[in-house]
Amino acid sequence: MKTYYITTPIYYLNGDPHIGHTYTTVAADTMARYKKARGYDVKFLTGSDEHGQKVERAAAEAGVSPQKFVDDLAATFKGIWKLMNCEYDFYQRTTNPAHRESIKRLFKKLFDQGDIYKGSYEGLYCTPCETFFTARDLNDGNCPDCNRRVETISEECYFFKMSKYQDALIKHYEENPEFLMPLSRRNEMLNNFIKPGLEDLCVSRTSFKWGIPVDFDPGHVIYVWIDALPNYVTALGFLSDDDSLYKRYWPADLHLMAKEIVRFHSIIWPCVLLALGEPLPKQVFGHGWLQYNGQKMGKSLGNAICPKTLVDEYGVDAMRYFLLREFTFGPDGNFTPAALITRYNADLANDLGNLLSRTVGMVDKYFGGTLPSSKEENSDPNRELIEMATSMLEKVEARMEKLAFSEALNEIWNLVRRANKYIDETAPWVLAKDESKAPELANVLYNLAETLRILAIAITPVMPNTPTIIREQLNITDPALYKWESAKKFGLLPRAVTVTKGSAAFPRIEKKP
Ligand code: ME8
Ligand code: MG
Repeated sequence: MKTYYITTPIYYLNGDPHIGHTYTTVAADTMARYKKARGYDVKFLTGSDEHGQKVERAAAEAGVSPQKFVDDLAATFKGIWKLMNCEYDFYQRTTNPAHRESIKRLFKKLFDQGDIYKGSYEGLYCTPCETFFTARDLNDGNCPDCNRRVETISEECYFFKMSKYQDALIKHYEENPEFLMPLSRRNEMLNNFIKPGLEDLCVSRTSFKWGIPVDFDPGHVIYVWIDALPNYVTALGFLSDDDSLYKRYWPADLHLMAKEIVRFHSIIWPCVLLALGEPLPKQVFGHGWLQYNGQKMGKSLGNAICPKTLVDEYGVDAMRYFLLREFTFGPDGNFTPAALITRYNADLANDLGNLLSRTVGMVDKYFGGTLPSSKEENSDPNRELIEMATSMLEKVEARMEKLAFSEALNEIWNLVRRANKYIDETAPWVLAKDESKAPELANVLYNLAETLRILAIAITPVMPNTPTIIREQLNITDPALYKWESAKKFGLLPRAVTVTKGSAAFPRIEKKP
């Protein structure tokens, strides 16, 4: 069985999760579900990044120990993934004893082979972002990410010999044109950061304690990126006594993240792997930021939107749909409540919701809830719907493989809209007035039910709950009719469709944003 290993970043535990965080996790969960549906052996990792000065300070301010602080927040994050229906296989925490052990070994290994050495560092550091910058990175003297002041700090530290791997990294980029996507980010990294020259990287700190200690030099803790990035392999048991998962699932197929940490994943992380002699991830993909009022949504800017409020109001499937349909996956996208309500009403309440309720309502009204089991030959008034239904899934696959979620959903919704148009064209309410047209009417309603069966399969990766609503109302219980491949065939649903009227899948939102 082919494997598929996908990861989100491990999120910093310095505040509650917001909709921006869920963007990556929902996308990753959708890919994981999609690959599972297509028969892959999938592993999906998320987790939390729990060490560092920022956490140490936040815990002190809250008056609790750092461990208690991260335990509580890790539980909060897990609650949000449950709420968002994100089903990860690994929740990796950097405070996990097994992770800490593997990181110590990794550090020692690189030290022993001469790729980590001791020196002293003077640099510009953004404490909230835990990132060093060079002068040219700064934005009017401020951090290019959060726009706060950076500090000049000098301390003794260990360095990782990143410069040594520059040529190997360039070669890897050139031999693997899709290593970093989208292409604009690849070109930026390669031309603006890698080719101008890689500098050795400071990988330990002495100014705080909350981290993984360097065993052979007690004043030092391992600096955040060397602790965090390898979480993707420590979760698989790399450098532990049992690395069978590592052997099976590494290299990862996809590291997913937003653009501000692409640099770490596409430069530092590959260099560490090159130094270790391990394979590089097949792809790093950096999507854009979810913005609110034109600025990156986040805790630091105070414009974070709580996922729970939205899910309580609109439902989890609607939120997942909105995130992946509204914004093109790659560039930044501006989040507005008005756009959410507009999408919800147009695509979900009107298009999909109405297709289901009209179909079920008409089977109920014209046939007492069950369609006749016989098929009238040559009674299809329109082949176009059927052709569109049978070819839709392949188009969806082509888009999904490129992480073009919005386009994939648009392919699905083309069929939803075509089916609604089919109702208008065939005018079942007119057919119903003429007894002799009953077979034709049954056929129209069958085609609609079968289209809904196919739609339920196609939307599953993005909207895991809605298919159940569709299947309950159409009484589809045979698991063979849920299978991904079965959505490429029309007419698998038994003719005698029986419906159970239910409440609206997506009740219209009347309020103003
Ligand atoms: O960077 N729009 O953690 P982090 C889109 N711990 N995505 C967003 C977002 C927004 N407004 N805000 C956050 C870290 N994200 C490190 C990562 S990995 C080894 C270590 C998502 O909590 C996006 O995926 O700052 C971004 O890259 C990630 O959260 C960073 O989360
Ligand atoms: Mg961040």
